[in-house]
Amino acid sequence: MLSKPIQAALNSQVQMEAESSQAYLAMASWAEIQPGLDGVSTFFYQQSDEERIHMLKLIRFVNERGGFALIPALIQPTITFKSVKSVFAEFLKHELKVSESINDLVHLSLTEKDYATHNFLQWYVNEQIEEERTARVLNDKLELVGDDRSGLYLFDRDILNYRGKK
Ligand code: FEO
Repeated sequence: MLSKPIQAALNSQVQMEAESSQAYLAMASWAEIQPGLDGVSTFFYQQSDEERIHMLKLIRFVNERGGFALIPALIQPTITFKSVKSVFAEFLKHELKVSESINDLVHLSLTEKDYATHNFLQWYVNEQIEEERTARVLNDKLELVGDDRSGLYLFDRDILNYRGKK
């Protein structure tokens, strides 16, 4: 059985994953209407799907443990961006926020002595290592590209290869 604080914190995380999915969906849609950014667009469509999976895992876990997973309202995320660089800066910033939230949850699971939740959260801890890494690699690459349009062409062409590479 979940304690009230754990249930509330897991439900907040459901909301955060839902918001992540929406935020990345908006990035995908913005990129899709820019000339030549099909790779970036596909990357964020995939990222949005992943966040939905993160959300669903939490929902199922809360309900399986005798809690009630609350489905949050949708908030409109940022829908326009001034550059590809600003999209990826936002992506990294967002993932760092998610990692912080997961860390707080892990801490709470220990103080509440909820070892099942602690164990469940380890998947998210590992996932965040990967997500932060992907976001950093892509930001570094864009830093290298600078204002070089052919560099941006290659970035877009190769972006799907960078996901999850060690
Ligand atoms: Fe589900 Fe990218 O954090």
